[in-house]
Amino acid sequence: MNEEKLHDFMGKLVTDMGGAAMLANMILGDELGLYRAMADSQFLTPEALASKTDCNPRLVREWLSAHAASGYMEHSDGKFRLPEEQAMTLAIEDSPVYMAGGAVVVAALFHDKDKLVAAMRGDGALAWGDHHPCMFSGTERFFRPGYRMHLVAEWLPALEGVVDKLKNGAKVADIGCGHGASTVIMAQAFPASQFVGFDYHAPSIDTANQRAEQGGVGDRVRFSQGTAKNYPGNDYDLICYFDCLHDMGDPVGAARHAYQSLKPDGTVLLVEPYATDQLDGNATPVGRLFYAASTFICTPNSLSQEVGLGLGAQAGEARLRDVLNQAGFTHVRRAAETPFNLIFEARK
Ligand SMILES: C[S@@+](CC[C@H](N)C(=O)[O-])C[C@H]1O[C@@H](n2cnc3c(N)ncnc32)[C@H](O)[C@@H]1O
Repeated sequence: MNEEKLHDFMGKLVTDMGGAAMLANMILGDELGLYRAMADSQFLTPEALASKTDCNPRLVREWLSAHAASGYMEHSDGKFRLPEEQAMTLAIEDSPVYMAGGAVVVAALFHDKDKLVAAMRGDGALAWGDHHPCMFSGTERFFRPGYRMHLVAEWLPALEGVVDKLKNGAKVADIGCGHGASTVIMAQAFPASQFVGFDYHAPSIDTANQRAEQGGVGDRVRFSQGTAKNYPGNDYDLICYFDCLHDMGDPVGAARHAYQSLKPDGTVLLVEPYATDQLDGNATPVGRLFYAASTFICTPNSLSQEVGLGLGAQAGEARLRDVLNQAGFTHVRRAAETPFNLIFEARK
């Protein structure tokens, strides 16, 4: 045994445990409005923050101290401040780099521990809808900032001829749409087009319809319950999958249904978690997060459905291309990428 390596690893574990405990504190800050009350990045005392947010001053001081010790906040003379960069990621939900929603997804993993124990001992299955409800709101809040930042500005323009079609009036389906964040963003950007979102999880569809009304696009966006292999229509210009194809039991069957549902010159937009083809290449902070989440979410969901391919969130380009090719798509191209996502274009 190498003592230095042991100490290094113990240090890594302490760091990770502190991070996990901070995520629980992040959820407090988000839910109680503590970050929002500090969004102006001014120094304030624990008592002032407690009075602004109607919270217990002693607990607020402890919460602030945890943030200062973690490098999330600055402190001086008993006062604390959330720097602008931290405010953008923790306090301002409309910011393109808002990340506090991710803590809610991680919370769902802890809530669902017993279900995962059963899945691990059994057939590996845990369906999306059987997660704690905070999984659904957390996923929406974690993914929406990235869609706001990249979808209209970068991903759609990276597809051949798609933006012109959307401007002129196209028919678009968003499959596995969840709470419809991506659908609403596209509909707001392209008022001449019609959008439908499908998801097999009925409560998500109810929320998505509320989001369309709240987003002022309820007249052009319709969300319906349906699986990726049975939604209606055969004249779509664009069929999208946002962070969901790898979650499906039969992604080849789903992509085949898209092939049949597209117009002859239609396009599939496939947005997937960023990954390389080999585990070694995914030994990164992002890859680690996605594998860990995939153990609880994506892979058991796939195993809960027919075929149960179990691609996992780190499927990588080669496997995703293979899925699309098997479904009949002959033109498959990596159109864009971000540190979190791979974006593919598939055509017939
Ligand atoms: C990780 S969530 C992503 C949701 C949404 N696209 C987003 O980006 O916020 C995966 C979604 O895929 C849906 N889903 C999984 N398997 C499905 C299937 N076979 N048919 C339709 N929807 C499915 C789930 O219900 C869930 O809403």
